[in-house]
Amino acid sequence: MSSENVFLIWGGEGWVAGHLKTLLESQGKKVFSTTVRMQNREAVIAELDKYKPTHVLNAAGSTGRPNVDWCEDHKEETIRNNVIGTINLADCCYEKGIHITVFATGCIYAYNDSHPIGGPGFLETDKANFDGSFYSETKAHVEEIMKNYSNCLILRLRMPVSDDLHSRNFVTKIAKYERVVDIPNSNTILHDLLPASILMAEHKDTGIYNFTNPGAISHNEVLSLFKEYVRPDFTWKNFTLDEQAKVIKAGRSNCKLDTTKLVNKLKEYKYEVPEIHEAYKGCFQRMAAAGVK
Ligand SMILES: NC(=O)c1ccc[n+]([C@@H]2O[C@H](COP(=O)([O-])OP(=O)(O)OC[C@H]3O[C@@H](n4cnc5c(N)ncnc54)[C@H](OP(=O)(O)O)[C@@H]3O)[C@@H](O)[C@H]2O)c1
Repeated sequence: MSSENVFLIWGGEGWVAGHLKTLLESQGKKVFSTTVRMQNREAVIAELDKYKPTHVLNAAGSTGRPNVDWCEDHKEETIRNNVIGTINLADCCYEKGIHITVFATGCIYAYNDSHPIGGPGFLETDKANFDGSFYSETKAHVEEIMKNYSNCLILRLRMPVSDDLHSRNFVTKIAKYERVVDIPNSNTILHDLLPASILMAEHKDTGIYNFTNPGAISHNEVLSLFKEYVRPDFTWKNFTLDEQAKVIKAGRSNCKLDTTKLVNKLKEYKYEVPEIHEAYKGCFQRMAAAGVK
């Protein structure tokens, strides 16, 4: 099946995109990447005609630098990239009969009375209830539209973690903060989930999937494992959500996603995703083995 597949990755210079390219190349698959602006319809169509992909992987979008606070001050640009561009790319793929996988976000929820900490996770069918940041707001709105495209697979990542200490890695971020909150969250260990995204794309799955490891893990649990496996002399300090709110412009989502739908789908392909605490141990063991400190 895969020998005739051609993958085209959008957002080619991005962090997740780079991981996808490396993974596909290591699997011996035919893969190209592009940095063409998603909202430029003529340029998008030209790119699709040039590479003739069977699968587009969309890892493009405004994520903000140094963080999502940027989106609060660049709303038009964020809309152009995360809404207009994202829908335009899906629409162009639809017109050409190309399957598209969108690397979306699960940061569209916040714990509430029916989903308290330690309680049930949010389902793919639950309405977004977090609009504390403009980034999340655009992502929640665009998902509502995108889910109607019959060629579209939407994967909701949360707080992605790589096996290195890249600046985009959630662990790198919280390890550098002066103080961190301590709340359980769903996380996406890229080593475990990116191969699953390729499997699902190859099977032309569609619809929305919570795309994290099963379970939730708190910041302190993550940092304790980091200290145990990677950096024995590491220390950190906590602060409360109220104290955090004083040093950030946009709100940050904290939630657990229900992964039942994902786990059941991956069972069809005999692929298992480890529970988040186990997944972190694996990740930090790989880091330590590679000499990351
Ligand atoms: N990293 C996270 O914490 C996280 C968490 C959950 C979900 N996600 C989602 O995963 C996806 C990839 O994230 P990432 O961390 O790899 O982000 P990233 O490193 O910022 O990469 C995104 C790439 O998209 C490009 N881009 C932005 N607007 C574009 C447009 N209109 N047309 C074409 N390319 C455009 C950017 O290029 P320019 O710089 O040239 O604009 C950048 O290279 C994003 O959609 C993000 O929302 C990320």
